[in-house]
Amino acid sequence: MSKKTEQIKADFLKAIETVRTQPDLAKLKADFIGKKGVLSEILKEMKGQPPEIIREIGQVVNQLKTEIEKTVDDKMKKIEAAVINEKLKRERIDVSLRESLFDRGLTDAGYHPVTLIQREVEDVFTSMGFEILDGPHIEDDYHNFVALNIPKHHPARDMQDTFWFSDLKHLLRTHTSPIQVRGMESRKPPFKFVGPGKVFRNEATDASHEMVFHQIEGMMVDENITVSHLIYFMKTLLSEIFGRSVEVRLRPGFFPFVEPGFELDIKCLICGGKGCSVCKHQGWLELLPCGMVHPNVLTYSGIDIKRYNGFAFGLGLDRLVMMRYGIDDIRHFHGGDLRFIRQFKSC
Ligand code: PHE
Repeated sequence: MSKKTEQIKADFLKAIETVRTQPDLAKLKADFIGKKGVLSEILKEMKGQPPEIIREIGQVVNQLKTEIEKTVDDKMKKIEAAVINEKLKRERIDVSLRESLFDRGLTDAGYHPVTLIQREVEDVFTSMGFEILDGPHIEDDYHNFVALNIPKHHPARDMQDTFWFSDLKHLLRTHTSPIQVRGMESRKPPFKFVGPGKVFRNEATDASHEMVFHQIEGMMVDENITVSHLIYFMKTLLSEIFGRSVEVRLRPGFFPFVEPGFELDIKCLICGGKGCSVCKHQGWLELLPCGMVHPNVLTYSGIDIKRYNGFAFGLGLDRLVMMRYGIDDIRHFHGGDLRFIRQFKSC
């Protein structure tokens, strides 16, 4: 009998030498130690033999089974390692590949300054617990105007020269304020969020006007919100962006969706308020329209005005970039001149 097991062992060791794949190995294992494998056959053949012989042979067979199991396991590990190695060879990515091989996009030119400042502003607001929302560039009349307290045929529509689609129901959004409406529609107070993005107006282009520019909208709705909350968040934002504490003042401003509405000015960072060419000798720079959300706007979006109120603002990102870097013509932003973009690689 031991001769027979010796032979089986020799056959097994010879067979496993040639096995290269996981399925072949599994088959080999089944052939030798599976339910219908050769070792099971031996055990079956022992039926009717005296108990001491059964015990003796049983021991030899079990020992061989253990040996075979171990050899199969070891081989399996080797095959797996080889498979992974093969895969790695095939899928290898050379992380040292020089990115400047691709002479376009961010690899060479860097990010657009508006993108950089947008990210900074987002970071400041997320650190204060604000969400960041997105909204469609193609808006409908309701979200861009009606729900913001600008009904059809209201003269306030003339404040924003609009690109309408031929159905006269859709338009390229003229401001990021529709993000306010979409934000209010999709959440319950209290909430606070900002919504950055491109906006479009049919402007005559000059050094300070473009047809495509960028805003970041902000809104906070809760119980007992006051103008002090608004001033606090605006001051924090501007101090972070300009890297020093800034002085602000509010003047009345008209926007149908806020009441009271303000223009927020900052004390000129160039002359410290004494008056210079940048602030046109005013000492102050107009920066950011804002106000307390008009009750009609809250009501349109289903918010209970007996309990909640809030503030909103709309910050022009292009203007902010121009002030920070002393850029005197907004048309550089879309000029596509890489020499311009390359200056803002990091920030
Ligand atoms: N949406 C206004 C604009 O683009 C700015 C604004 C936003 C004013 C929020 C007040 C509150 O002119």
